[in-house]
Amino acid sequence: MAAMNDSETLQDSLHGEIESFFDSAPPLKDGPDISRKVKEFIERTSLSAGGKGASRVVCITSGGTTVPLEKRCVRYIDNFSSGHRGAASTEYFLEAGYFVIFLYRRGTCQPFCQSLPEDPLLECFEVKESNVQACQSHSEEIKRAIGEHCDALKRGLLLKVPFTTIFEYLQILQLIAISMKNLGRYAMFFLAAAVSDFYLPWKSMEEHKIQSASGPLDMHLVQVPKMLSVLRREWAPMAFCISFKLETDSKILLEKADTALKKYKMHAVVANELLTRKEVVVVVTGSEKIPVHRDKTVASADVESPLIKLLVEKHSSQIDA
Ligand code: PMT
Repeated sequence: MAAMNDSETLQDSLHGEIESFFDSAPPLKDGPDISRKVKEFIERTSLSAGGKGASRVVCITSGGTTVPLEKRCVRYIDNFSSGHRGAASTEYFLEAGYFVIFLYRRGTCQPFCQSLPEDPLLECFEVKESNVQACQSHSEEIKRAIGEHCDALKRGLLLKVPFTTIFEYLQILQLIAISMKNLGRYAMFFLAAAVSDFYLPWKSMEEHKIQSASGPLDMHLVQVPKMLSVLRREWAPMAFCISFKLETDSKILLEKADTALKKYKMHAVVANELLTRKEVVVVVTGSEKIPVHRDKTVASADVESPLIKLLVEKHSSQIDA
């Protein structure tokens, strides 16, 4: 029998970690329902191409995953992600003619809501002659947001799938990716979610609320296996894959993005720094490092607009290659 080389041994151990993650994760509560919705959505995208090639479909992940510390969860570990990147990018991909599966963390930013007032919802509406209507000062933005959102849903262009925990996120991502496999090069993954790096395995979790009277807490968190390589190799090998690299230290950012590009065989890695992520990102590919800036001369302009334009061009080149 031939001896395994280093890379085969590494892949084997990653496989083991991934299998053990999925085997020990609590099953998705509404798995069959999510699976049906995703399948129907993807079938509709093929029908809408009407025999002319295929439609482009992007899965956008958005917001941060939580790590529960108890099965009947009272406490969890969370991260900073607001979901702005994923929500804004969804609008630009729709504008570019893509079908979008928006895999988002419950309670984070939603597409078409960027221009809405920050006031609490109840302060944006009033009752006049028994009818509820948007207050004069906000009525245009609210009408536009509701109109665009309803339009995208009614035309079957947008499917929204929520998650909360790291267990839900990775199981749903796998389900979506496998369903998108047949789209070949027309599929894209835009992995902007901030995914937990460490988790507490379900089997070692307390059932009930951890008692503070037991004294200081000592917990062993296990590394979440990176799913990027299995996504590329097995789940959807022909899809165009964009991952993100977030750092707080600009000195190591580009090098880390470059390493991730090669290690996980991504088509591009979007490098961003925590404090400047809304102003500038760098798109790292095998041959270039392209800085993308927000247009500072327009107050409402965001960095996602030029970023999505660039990534759509790169995806087109990949499809035509
Ligand atoms: O949501 P906002 O507030 O608008 O902020 C946007 C953002 C900063 C969250 C976004 O631009 C971003 O950088 N998202 C990725 C953050 C992150 O998890 O970076 P990372 O370096 O830890 O992971 C790199 C990549 O590996 C990510 O694409 C992630 O999807 C993936 N990953 C991470 C951990 C893990 N266990 N498995 C993974 O597949």
